[in-house]
Amino acid sequence: MEVILLMAMTLDGKIARDSLQLVDWTGKADKQYFVRLTRKAGVVIMGSKTFDTIGKPLPGRKNIVMTRNSDRKSQDENLVFTDQSPTQIINSLGEEGFESVALIGGAIVNSLFARENLITQIHVTLIPALFGRGLSLFRDSLDVKLELVENREIEKDHLLLVYRVIP
Ligand SMILES: NC(=O)c1ccc[n+]([C@@H]2O[C@H](COP(=O)([O-])OP(=O)(O)OC[C@H]3O[C@@H](n4cnc5c(N)ncnc54)[C@H](OP(=O)(O)O)[C@@H]3O)[C@@H](O)[C@H]2O)c1
Repeated sequence: MEVILLMAMTLDGKIARDSLQLVDWTGKADKQYFVRLTRKAGVVIMGSKTFDTIGKPLPGRKNIVMTRNSDRKSQDENLVFTDQSPTQIINSLGEEGFESVALIGGAIVNSLFARENLITQIHVTLIPALFGRGLSLFRDSLDVKLELVENREIEKDHLLLVYRVIP
């Protein structure tokens, strides 16, 4: 199973100024890349704080939202709230026939997946901006080595960087 971490990041490594900020500061090409990759995967996994900034499930994709709040329930078959571990989630998606999944943040959930060594690729769009403070790509300390497999300017001043995680 390919687990693709898909994020937009400022040059100083920030993904948001705080956990409530909507990702509305990237470019058109990044948004198109996000839609293309997540639709191809067919499934996105995110933390409840990221879900709350978006406010609704992404259409045409299965949305898995990690939360420990058992009051959060959904009638929509494409929106699943879960407190399962990352490994359990990935195993279930594998059994359902998914071959790749898009992990779409935020920092807390990214760290949960990294801790279980599940991330196989990282696709980052480097946005020409600096926040100075804010949330990083991951919240916890890590020791992960990467191999750059692609880099291209997808829009003026916006660099797409694709890395493979070295197992
Ligand atoms: N730049 C980008 O590309 C990008 C992408 C995505 C998100 N973001 C930004 O990142 C920010 C949110 O990130 P964040 O790190 O604060 O939060 P997050 O990772 O989106 O969500 C954290 C939440 O996940 C749930 N959770 C944590 N551990 C869990 C576990 N073991 N099992 C089940 N659920 C668990 C908890 O929800 P409960 O409190 O409900 O239990 C926790 O509050 C937002 O500002 C968003 O816009 C940026």
